[in-house]
Amino acid sequence: MPLYESEYRQFQDAYYDLFRRAGFPLTEADRRAIAVADFGLATPGDRDSSLRLGILEVHLAPFCMKLLGWLPLDTLPEHRHQSVLVLPPGSAIPEGFVLLEHFARGFRPRPVDAPGSLYVVPVDPFFLFPTDSFGQEVPPEGLAGRVLRGKWEKFTPMYGEATLYTTRDHILRGDGKTEYLRDPSGVKPASAGRYRPPKKDWDTMLSRYAVELGVDGAQGLVGSSVLLPCNTPHLVVAGPTGFVCIESSLESFDEADIFTRHDEIMRATEVLPDLPLP
Ligand SMILES: [Fe+2]
Repeated sequence: MPLYESEYRQFQDAYYDLFRRAGFPLTEADRRAIAVADFGLATPGDRDSSLRLGILEVHLAPFCMKLLGWLPLDTLPEHRHQSVLVLPPGSAIPEGFVLLEHFARGFRPRPVDAPGSLYVVPVDPFFLFPTDSFGQEVPPEGLAGRVLRGKWEKFTPMYGEATLYTTRDHILRGDGKTEYLRDPSGVKPASAGRYRPPKKDWDTMLSRYAVELGVDGAQGLVGSSVLLPCNTPHLVVAGPTGFVCIESSLESFDEADIFTRHDEIMRATEVLPDLPLP
C-alpha cells in the first residue's frame, strides 16, 4: 500500500529530527533526500504501522554509507542480502534455485549483465555458495555463470537502542587490523530480546538469536559495530526513543534484498498525490 505525499513528507520531517537528535549536522537540503521505507505495508491515512525505516544514503560506488533511522518501536522486517547466481542467457533454472523475482518483487535486471541473463537464488535460505581459494563465492559445481555477492553490512549504533535478531549465534568483531573473529558474547536466545517485533514478524522470522544494540555502557555490546555477512537473515526493532545507526557496506544491491515476508513486502515505497481538499 502507498503513502500520501504529505504523509511521506511528515515522515521525512520525523526522521530529519531523529538524525539531528543523534548529532548528525543535516541541513535543509538533506531533509527531502531522506527515503522513507514503508515496505509496502502502510495504509494511506493510517500512521499506525510499525514496519518502517528512514534512510539517508551516501553512495559513492563501490562504497555505500547510509544513516538508518527507526522511529520509536519501529521494525525493519527480517531480510537477507542474498548472493545471486547470474546465469548466461538461455540457461535452465537449476534444481534447488528459483528466479530472484519470485522473492524480490520489482527487481529489474542490471544493465551491466548480458541481456536475457537469468538471476536465480537458492530456495534454501541457509544455502551457502562454495568459495574459491580467494574466498570469492562461485557457482556450485556443474553450473556456469557467476555469483553476485550479497551485501556484507556493518551497523554502528549512534543513538538510542534496538534489538537485532539474527540467525547467527555469534557476531563478527574486529579491530580493523586483524580478521574478524567469531564472538558469542552478547548474543542470547531470541526469547530474551529486549524489544520485540510485531507478532507476525516474530512468528515468521528465521532468527533465533538476539543482540542488544546501543551506545550506552549498560547495553550488551557497547556502541560497537556488528558485522553481518551476506545471506544472514536479520531484523532490527527499535526501543522507545528510536534508534539511529550508520550502515556501511561495500556494494549495495538493495533491489535483491529478500524479505522473509516476501509475499507481502515491497522494497520500493509508492507515493500517492494528496487528495484534493473538499
Ligand atoms: Fe540489511
